[in-house]
Amino acid sequence: MPGFCVNTMLEQIQEATRYIQSQTTVQPTIGIILGTGLGALAGEVVIETTLPYETIPHFPLSTVEFHSGKLLLGTLAGKPVVVMQGRFHFYEGYTMQQVTFPVRVMHALGVRTLLVSNAAGGMNPAFKVSDLMVIDDHISLLLPQNPLTGKHLPVFGDRFPDMSEPYDPMLIRQAFDLAQDLGISLQRGVYVSVTGPQLETKAEYRMLRQWGADAVGMSTVPEVIVAHQMGMRIFGVSVITDMCIPETLEKADIAKIIAAAGVAEPKLTALMKKLVETL
Ligand code: HPA
Repeated sequence: MPGFCVNTMLEQIQEATRYIQSQTTVQPTIGIILGTGLGALAGEVVIETTLPYETIPHFPLSTVEFHSGKLLLGTLAGKPVVVMQGRFHFYEGYTMQQVTFPVRVMHALGVRTLLVSNAAGGMNPAFKVSDLMVIDDHISLLLPQNPLTGKHLPVFGDRFPDMSEPYDPMLIRQAFDLAQDLGISLQRGVYVSVTGPQLETKAEYRMLRQWGADAVGMSTVPEVIVAHQMGMRIFGVSVITDMCIPETLEKADIAKIIAAAGVAEPKLTALMKKLVETL
């Protein structure tokens, strides 16, 4: 986005929002971003409106083949939701402003609670493949761009947003209670975001672990920064799709990663649905 201009961005957000509102009667208060291989929750949504991203003004186009790239509006557990089936990644060539554009549109639509999921590599040796990790904090500092840089528009929130607690502690507690009722075990930890698309070297995993991260992935953090700046309550879950312990590291196999996400999918779907029920 050369010559990127916030006023233009505001107009683009408004145009996208007006278009979506013209296509649906749903007034979502909850937004959900479904990560790689985690699409099953969409099957639980009573869908009123499906909008392929390419039909929405100013939406970037999703290019990753296993992302179907649609905005769904409907109800989940009786609550009005908007669901991003497929997200935008920095490694696809978008700017961070483009990656997070849909989050700003969700806010303009009325979303005040954001649920995000992703596939991540597990670096905490207590984790195992297909575990769910509730994100209780993150590390953004390795990303080469930040979605909040540039001219500041006060309607978006603070110029210098506090990040002492971006992931809502009440939602985290609630999720652990619900998981217990559902018989689902949950891990909890710090997610570090990298751009990818290459996976990490052993030396990089060792470094990330020493820096305090439990899981690593290529998404989520830019979306959370923007959502938190706008005052949304945020709940995030990583599905541990591969273990990234330097001493025992195996060659990455994307098919295996997708399959591991598939194994975790029913647990994540049940948990998210229950959580939405309580909102
Ligand atoms: N690194 C980065 N992103 C990932 C990984 C990983 O090991 N696994 C799944 N997404």
